[in-house]
Formats: sequence, C-alpha cells, structure tokens
Amino acid sequence: MRSLSQPILLCLLATASLSTAANLPTTVQFDIIFPVNNTVYKPVYPFPVVLAVHNGSAATSSAYHWDWSLVNYEDYDVITYGSSNIESSPPREDTLVIAPVFDLINSTAKNLFLRITFGIFETCDAKGVMPSNKSLDVAFHKPLYFSLDRENGQIPDATAGGPCATPIGAIGIEKEVPVDQRWAQDDGSSCLVLKSGAQPAQECAFRVDEAVAKQVADRMSQFYSDANIYFVSCKAFTDISRKWNCYTDPNPARYGQ
Ligand SMILES: *[C@@H]1O[C@H](CO)[C@@H](O)[C@H](O)[C@H]1NC(C)=O
Ligand SMILES: *[C@@H]1O[C@H](CO)[C@@H](O)[C@H](O)[C@H]1NC(C)=O
Ligand SMILES: *[C@@H]1O[C@H](CO)[C@@H](O)[C@H](O)[C@H]1NC(C)=O
Ligand SMILES: *[C@@H]1O[C@H](CO)[C@@H](O)[C@H](O)[C@H]1NC(C)=O
Repeated sequence: MRSLSQPILLCLLATASLSTAANLPTTVQFDIIFPVNNTVYKPVYPFPVVLAVHNGSAATSSAYHWDWSLVNYEDYDVITYGSSNIESSPPREDTLVIAPVFDLINSTAKNLFLRITFGIFETCDAKGVMPSNKSLDVAFHKPLYFSLDRENGQIPDATAGGPCATPIGAIGIEKEVPVDQRWAQDDGSSCLVLKSGAQPAQECAFRVDEAVAKQVADRMSQFYSDANIYFVSCKAFTDISRKWNCYTDPNPARYGQ
C-alpha cells in the first residue's frame, strides 16, 4: 500500500441558505456528483471528486462521518482518500464537497473504484441508552467504478452525469434525546435516535447545474496554476460550453525539468 500522507484538500461550499436547529424527524442524505459510475476518464490534474450532503447539520449531537477511498481495482492499493472531519460540525444544508485528487496524473492504474462510506454513530435508543454493540448506528458503503485512459478518456465535466446527483444513501433521524446518565460524559449531552437501517434516498435531491460545474472548475483551477508546470496543460474555465478544460498534456517531456 502506498503512503496515504498526500494532503487532501477539501472545499466545503454551502450552496443553500443557512439553517438553524434541525427540525426532526428528518433525513440526512449523501450523494455523489463526480466521477460518474462506469465511465472512462483522462487522468487529469487535479482530478475532481465531488459529493453532496443534505441536512448534515441535523446530525450535530452524534458522530457523523463520511469518507471515500480511491482504490486501484487490480491490486486494491489505496491511491488516496478523503473524509469528513469528525471533530467539526456537520455541514449546513445542501453542501457541495469538492476534493481535488493529485495522484492520478502519474498513476499506472487503469481500473479504479471509489469506496464511499457514510454513517451516523454514537446513537441511542429512545431512553438515551447507547448499546455497547453499536447496533443502533447506521452506516453503509457503496462502490463506484471508473477507468483511466490517457488517449480516449473523457475530460472530467461535473455536468456529464446529467442534472441529478447519484444518491449514495440516506439516514433517518427520529429525534434527539438526553443521554442516559450512566453513559453521559457531562450533564446535558444528547444523542440521536435513528430510523433502523438505510432509508430510501431521494432522487435528484441535488441539482447539478452550470453553477455547480463552475464551482468545481474554479476549485480545480486553483490547484493547477502553480503546481503542474511540467506535466499538464490546462486552460482556465473560460469556454462557453462551461466544461472544465484541464487535461494531461500528451507530450509532457516537452516541458523538461
Ligand atoms: C432535508 O430535510 C427536510 C426537512 O426535514 C426534508 O423535507 C428534506 O426531504 C430533506 N432532504 C433530503 C435530501 O433528505
Ligand atoms: C508526476 O511525475 C513527475 C515526473 O516524475 C513529477 O515531477 C511530479 O511531481 C509527479 N506528480 C505528482 C502529482 O505526483
Ligand atoms: C445489541 O445489544 C442490545 C442490548 O444492549 C441487544 O438487545 C441487541 O440484541 C444486540 N444486538 C446485536 C446485533 O447483538
Ligand atoms: C455503480 O455501478 C455498479 C454496477 O456496475 C453498482 O453496483 C454500484 O452500486 C453503482 N454505484 C453507485 C454509487 O451508484
């Protein structure tokens, strides 16, 4: 397994209005926008991974977590990964998560998958008791497959998957209750009572429009300007088609070192 020390830079962009306390019951949903399942891409620098979270702030009083790992399908080598910061508050409503991946430009991997995990932990029953076997927590994993091809792959485009993000899954929150005092670390802590298991996810909960494509393009172009002078050729987001126009140079040697 290769080093996992490559820094992952996450960009959290709130795209909807600020919300106050969650109205329960509600559903927290996690979607993927990019890459698109079963698609062949050019290994551009940086390569975007784009996710969306809905109603994340409803999960404040339990541990809310998502992560993704980018894995070489041939040898299960983890190329890179990203995750929520479990110490920080979950994002506000309808949040776009844009992560640039730097490691694909030189990768020899051809077939890859993203292993996506989403869960809410440290949950309790209606009396505020957290079972030690964690049987009330809800988490799930979903794989997404894609391939790399320098010559024939598509240049990443956040809108190529159509106007709707692909749901990874949804978790239902019934209510928030005080933690049973035998478990509480301090008076007044509370925990979430979840609906059992994954809940039906809403199709098209997140609209992938030109504004989203522009946010992704702008975010990616922040990274290539100073870091890639040898090996990529990228154009800023200027063309009318509003595609992210950054791609690997077919002849990297001409930049010399
Ligand atoms: C977010 O929460 C609101 C209020 O509970 C609900 O109507 C909506 O369906 C939820 N969104 C998703 C994607 O679950
Ligand atoms: C890719 O390889 C080139 C040439 O060896 C190197 O200079 C560059 O830092 C590598 N890029 C990344 C993102 O690892
Ligand atoms: C987990 O523990 C609770 C009681 O604490 C018990 O009722 C339940 O059957 C256990 N579940 C599993 C899957 O072991
Ligand atoms: C991607 O497609 C595979 C089947 O090829 C399916 O099993 C998987 O659930 C899909 N992933 C997502 C995120 O929809």
